[in-house]
Amino acid sequence: MGYYKALFTINGVERMVHVDESETLAEFLRRYGLTSVKVGCGAGQCGSCTVLLDGEPVRSCVRKMGKIPEFSKIETLEGLGTASNLHPLQMAWIIYGGVQCGFCTPGFIMSAKALLDSNPSPTRAEARKWFTDHKNICRCTGYKPIIDAVMAAAEVMRGDKPIDSLRYKGEENQVFGTAYPRRQALGRVLGITDYGDDMALKMPTGTVHLAVVLADVKHGKLISLDTAAAEQAPGVVKIITADDIKGTNNIALPVPHPRNQASVRNRPILVKDIIRRKGDVLCLVAADSQKNARDAAKLVKAEIEELPAAMTLLEAVLPDALPVQEGSPNNFVNTPVFKGDEEHLDEIFEKAAYSVDGSFYSCREPHLALEPHSMQAYVDKNGVLVICWKSQFLHQPFFTLPPALGIEPEKVRFIDNPGGGTFGLAMSADAPGLVGAATLALEGKPVSLTMSYREHQVFTGKRAPTYCNSRVCCDENGKLMAWEFDIAGDHGAYAETAGPLQDKMIRFAGYGLNVPNARGIARAVFTNNSYGIAYRAFGSPQAYTSTEQLVDMLAEKAGIDPFEFRQINVAKPGDTTLNSREYHYYATEEMLDQMRPYWDESKKWAAEDPGNGKLRGIGCALGGYHVSNHTDTCEVWLELNPDGSVTDYNCWQELGEGTDIGSLAFAHEALKPLGLKPDQIRLVQNDTGICPRHGASAGSRSHYVSGNAHIVAANLLMDAMRKEDGTYRTYDEMIAEGIPTLHKGVWSIVGAHEPNSPNDGEGDPMLDHNHIVQVARVEVDPKTGETEVLSVHSIADVGVVGNKLTLDGQATGGLEHAIGMALYEEYSDDEKKYETMIGCGVLQCNQMPDEIPFEYHVTPRDGGPFGSGGASECFQSSAHVCILNAVANAIGTRIYEPPANPAMILKALEAKAQGKDLKPEKYYMGESFEDVIAYIKANPVGDGAKGPSMGH
Ligand code: FES
Ligand code: FES
Repeated sequence: MGYYKALFTINGVERMVHVDESETLAEFLRRYGLTSVKVGCGAGQCGSCTVLLDGEPVRSCVRKMGKIPEFSKIETLEGLGTASNLHPLQMAWIIYGGVQCGFCTPGFIMSAKALLDSNPSPTRAEARKWFTDHKNICRCTGYKPIIDAVMAAAEVMRGDKPIDSLRYKGEENQVFGTAYPRRQALGRVLGITDYGDDMALKMPTGTVHLAVVLADVKHGKLISLDTAAAEQAPGVVKIITADDIKGTNNIALPVPHPRNQASVRNRPILVKDIIRRKGDVLCLVAADSQKNARDAAKLVKAEIEELPAAMTLLEAVLPDALPVQEGSPNNFVNTPVFKGDEEHLDEIFEKAAYSVDGSFYSCREPHLALEPHSMQAYVDKNGVLVICWKSQFLHQPFFTLPPALGIEPEKVRFIDNPGGGTFGLAMSADAPGLVGAATLALEGKPVSLTMSYREHQVFTGKRAPTYCNSRVCCDENGKLMAWEFDIAGDHGAYAETAGPLQDKMIRFAGYGLNVPNARGIARAVFTNNSYGIAYRAFGSPQAYTSTEQLVDMLAEKAGIDPFEFRQINVAKPGDTTLNSREYHYYATEEMLDQMRPYWDESKKWAAEDPGNGKLRGIGCALGGYHVSNHTDTCEVWLELNPDGSVTDYNCWQELGEGTDIGSLAFAHEALKPLGLKPDQIRLVQNDTGICPRHGASAGSRSHYVSGNAHIVAANLLMDAMRKEDGTYRTYDEMIAEGIPTLHKGVWSIVGAHEPNSPNDGEGDPMLDHNHIVQVARVEVDPKTGETEVLSVHSIADVGVVGNKLTLDGQATGGLEHAIGMALYEEYSDDEKKYETMIGCGVLQCNQMPDEIPFEYHVTPRDGGPFGSGGASECFQSSAHVCILNAVANAIGTRIYEPPANPAMILKALEAKAQGKDLKPEKYYMGESFEDVIAYIKANPVGDGAKGPSMGH
């Protein structure tokens, strides 16, 4: 270790600084308060820490200070512009939707500045190459909005356009239904929004820093922990183990499904005895600094009796597999769907003109949020345990965490940290349990925990992968006759979100099509892998993986164009879902008609020789998602302030999707009669101590339910303010007359829709449906196996658009994840490579097409706020299959077990050359399909999903 004094020019100012040569440039800059420099991967893979060193972009997390010459010039985002004098790049990022979660924003803007400093007139392709070469990853935006922003800023910086061209030009007093920019974007483009690890630097003196000790086996018995050496390490305050937890130490959620057989569910905050996966936490090391905590964590020794692990579903269902949750079967939920003449399905298949079958795998897709988990906790002056972390459902841990920690629910408060992306992973109460347990063990002292990216990857849940055996048939005209499927989800070590996941799978098989007869089951299975958790489009990508591929396979067998085949079979008014209920809207037929010319054009395009030796292919898919559930509640409070403004209190958790602009748009629109300007609406959000229950930011519900709750609250407030002559009271008049100024809008729907029956799958539990039609063009290099997605065209019906900028952002971002799922991304606790973003195959800028137009086919929703529906998840529902179908079209053989990465494509081409294909043997799922069906029929259970709704 070598310390020295040095002079650097930092953001244009020469500064004398003190340096530790072994620290990284990122650590140094953050120590000096320049927290725009974000550390995501910490390994030079994501670019979120990008700063300029003598004008060159560098990833500061891997640049040691000892290698940086004195007098170097260092530029960070703090030096670029100010709130009243933004740089063109910062302005462009705001109005082109370059900011979602904003974690990548500082690094991206600095990288863009270096690009434009060296090349003032880049082409879009050059900009995309630049960000790829400089490893700038954005997981939220799908990159296109960022390229749009760079091109627009470049025009201004060159003097081709005035700075005014980067200001929002919409009608000043209209927010809803526009592209009004987000309020929170300003803090993010300035780099002053404090994410979890920024908070860590700003906690009070005496804050204790934590490090996790993770299991290094996949299944085992913890015999003992030897913490003696760690306790003696410098700065260590305490080693916190399961013995320090005064409550049940069990945060397992109930499985809200009547067919759940997991009677025993253990989900410890800290391991007491059994290790069920690599991400289980054995203990926490508390020390006076993060470095000391992490160093000491390496000294903890665990004596473990290793047990055989089932790392895949196919292993977990074998007769000799050990139970992952002792006392519960590994296959713990089976839920059915029966439709039409399912009793005679075999006869229908025999009579059908054409039938196809196949077995399909959908991957354990990692969310790959840029920011690793970072959270804080303390006991406040009133004895309340305060926990701050990024959450998608702030009120959910009230169910599990207080008893697990041995504390009354009234004595807990949850606050949302600005989060650097979640996409579903922050639905779990596992992370807050760690800091909650630590602060209680330390007598309420403030604690802070930032995980390394490796720890974050191993600790957090992933999309549950599925295995599916399925078959489908049609008549001589291509009319679908019957569908059968057996789909099983690998839920990993814990049951979180199982049950609802299986219900989704039985809803999205053949969604958008008219399937007259069907029989299917969806299973949930424990394994010793990363646990299944929410992920955008929860449950539907798994279903579409098989169904939208089978549609193409059947169309091919019947000699019908696959797009035409979907037009023949699209659900028309009166046709029903697989759950035997009518669709809420039937826009897909019109959307297919709207897309048809582009499909026909694409066919001609695919038939042309590209002249580059590549194979062209096109694919299409139908998709869509549901909004919320049969029981839901959302609460929003609106309060009139002395100056006539209104404060909007809600817990609409912000994940990057724009809950600030959502709240503002709804409050402003609902309060229109008061004539408020947008800046007369203040937002106070995401603190359970002062904001009401909003429910989960999930299930495409937030826009729908929050909008409705805003309308209820606004009507209550305006009713209270309204005088007999129709004018409105001022704040002073309200006070003088003793009229309350705060009004609580509760929008609730309890059992108004029918849950899927656990005996036959019938029912329609959803508030709303949305639909999408997509067409993709790809080129595959047969020499390398690389696929280039050249374009994806989408037409979606999500109801009236509330904010175009954020809706486009969900669309492009969803597509980014879908392409990743199709071609590159995967995760397993079994291999170390998945502990990094690149190892997981994270989608980079040049792997995302630049041509991704979205059209919105607007059907106003009857029950939706101002006609809006719920949107975000339809964009990621089936787009991966659209890509897989295009790849199959290009290479003339199918990838059944994606991702269709280069190695897989080369394998498929090799098999094809030998007259074979990669079609898997029918998966063995344990108990036979027929036996499961027979059991379900012989053993009906009470109808209706049990457990908490998304709104409580
Ligand atoms: Fe530095 Fe990812 S590249 S944090
Ligand atoms: Fe780029 Fe979230 S906005 S990672």
